[in-house]
Amino acid sequence: TPSPAAAPDRLPFSKVTQEDLDFFKKVLPGRTITDPDLLEANNVDWLKSVRGYSEVLLRPQTTEEVSQILRYCNSRNLAVNPQGGNTGLVGGSVPVYDEIILSTALMNNILTFDGVSGILTCQAGCILENLSNYLEERDYIMPLDLGAKGSCQIGGNVATNAGGLRLLRYGSLRGTVLGLEVVLADGQVLDCLATLRKDNTGYDLKQLFIGSEGTLGVITAVSILCPRKPKSVNVVFLGCETFEQLLQTFKLCRGMLGEILSAFEFLDSECMRLLNTHLKLPNPITDCPFYVVIETAGSNPTHDEEKLHNFLEEAMTSSLVTDGTVATEDTKIKALWSMRERVTESLTHDGFTYKYDISLPVERIYQLVTDMREHLGDRAKSVVGYGHVGDGNLHLNITSPAKDPALLAAIEPFVYEWTAGCQGSISAEHGLGLKKRNYIYYSKPSQAVALMGNIKAMLDPKGILNPYKTLPDNLR
Ligand code: FAD
Ligand code: MLT
Ligand code: ZN
Repeated sequence: TPSPAAAPDRLPFSKVTQEDLDFFKKVLPGRTITDPDLLEANNVDWLKSVRGYSEVLLRPQTTEEVSQILRYCNSRNLAVNPQGGNTGLVGGSVPVYDEIILSTALMNNILTFDGVSGILTCQAGCILENLSNYLEERDYIMPLDLGAKGSCQIGGNVATNAGGLRLLRYGSLRGTVLGLEVVLADGQVLDCLATLRKDNTGYDLKQLFIGSEGTLGVITAVSILCPRKPKSVNVVFLGCETFEQLLQTFKLCRGMLGEILSAFEFLDSECMRLLNTHLKLPNPITDCPFYVVIETAGSNPTHDEEKLHNFLEEAMTSSLVTDGTVATEDTKIKALWSMRERVTESLTHDGFTYKYDISLPVERIYQLVTDMREHLGDRAKSVVGYGHVGDGNLHLNITSPAKDPALLAAIEPFVYEWTAGCQGSISAEHGLGLKKRNYIYYSKPSQAVALMGNIKAMLDPKGILNPYKTLPDNLR
C-alpha cells in the first residue's frame, strides 16, 4: 500500500495548450518561462524530496497581472501552484504534476513604511532578509526571523504562517499581520490591506489566508506591524546535562529575564555532531547532551547585562547549566546563532531527511526523541531533536543514507499517534503541504476538517489552487 504521504492520482485539470501560452505571453511578455532548464529549480523542493513536472513558470509583477492569470486559469480549468522562495519543508511549494507555477519573485517592491507606527506594506515577493535590512536602516526589525531568511518571501511566510526564532517575543503572524491583499481563484482582488491595529468589523477574513498554503488565494501584498530595533542584544549559548535541567533553565530564564527575553531555542548533542562533522562548526563550549541559545533584546545595555549576569550566576550556582558563553558583539552573536540556525542545513549533508515539526506540552518535547530512538534502533542513521522550546515546538528529524520506505513505515504513523496521545499538533509551523495532508485528523476533529473543505469549495470551486495539498484526499 502506498504511504498516505504519496501523491494522489492527477485530477482532471486541462493541459496547457499553445493557445494558453499565447495568452500568458501576451500578459507577461518575457516573463512566461517554458525552458525546462530554467524550470528545474522551481519544480524541486528545498529538501530535494519531491518534484513536479510543470512546463510553465509565470512571473507576474503586479496584482493586476496575477488577477488576469487566475481569471484565465479558472475559466480554462488549469491548475496553479503559487510559489514564493521555495523553502517550504512539506512539499507544498512545488507542483505535483504539471500545475502552472505562479512565482511571486518579481513582486518585490516595498509600498509604504510608516516610521511612527512601524507598519510596513509591501508586495508578497519581498525576501524576508531584504525587508529586515530595509527596516534596520530605519531602526525597526521584522517581527519574524528564520534560517531561510535569505530566500523565503514574506508572502510565503504568511501563506505558511511561519513561526521562527522570534515568535516567543513578538507572537505569530496572526497578530502582527494587519492586512492582506489576495487574488482569489476566479481573479477577484480581495483588498483587506488595512493598516489598523484594531478592526472588529465582522469576520477577520485575512486570517483565512494566513497559513492557507496557497490553497485559498494568492497573497499579493502584506501589511505588517514591526517592532523597534532593540538597542541592546545579547546571546548566550549554554550546555545542560539533562532535558529536565534545560526546562528548569527555561523557567528560571522567564522569571529573571522576563521582559527582555527574545528567544529560547535548543539543540541536542546529535545536532552538534552534525554541525561539527558536516559544516565544520566547532562547539563553542564543552560537550553536553543539550544546548540552549538564549537571546535577550532590550533598550538599555547596562540594565540587560546586569540582568543576564544575575541569571547566569543563578543558573551556574544551582547547577542547572554546565558551561556557557556570552556574546554581545555582532559577529559572535551571529556565530552562536548559526549553531542553531544551521542544523537544518547540516541534516541535508547527513542523508535523506524525514522531518517532523511537532507541538507538544513543553515538558514532553524531548520524550518523543528518546522514544523514537528506541523505537527505530539502528534502522535510522541519525535521530536528532532541536527546536523552539519557548513555543513548545519540537523539530524531530531522522536521516537515512537514501530514501527508505521501510524506515518511513516505521516512523509513521508512530510519530503521529504519539503526538495525538499528548493532544499535540502534527504541524506546529511548517504546514501540511503534500506530505502531511492525510494526517490532519490526528490533530483536527473531522467537523473542523469538513468545514475547511466547505471553505475551500466556496473560495476555489474548481480546486485549481495548489491541488493535492493541505486538505486530505477524502475531501476532493
Ligand atoms: P514557499 O516555500 O515558496 O511556499 C510555501 C507554501 O506557501 C506553498 O504551499 C506555496 O504554495 C505557498 N505560497 C507561497 N507564496 C504564496 C503566496 N504569495 N500566496 C499564496 N500562497 C503562497 N518555517 C518556520 O515556520 N519556522 C522556521 O524557523 C523555519 N526555518 C526554516 C529554515 C530553513 C533553512 C528552511 C529551508 C526552511 C525553514 N522554514 C521555517 C520553512 C519555510 O522557510 C517557511 O515555511 C517559509 O515561510 C516559506 O516561505 P517561501 O517564500 O519559501 O514559500
Ligand atoms: C527551524 O526551526 O530550524 C526550522 O523550522 C527548520 C527545520 O525545522 O529544520
Ligand atoms: Zn522551526
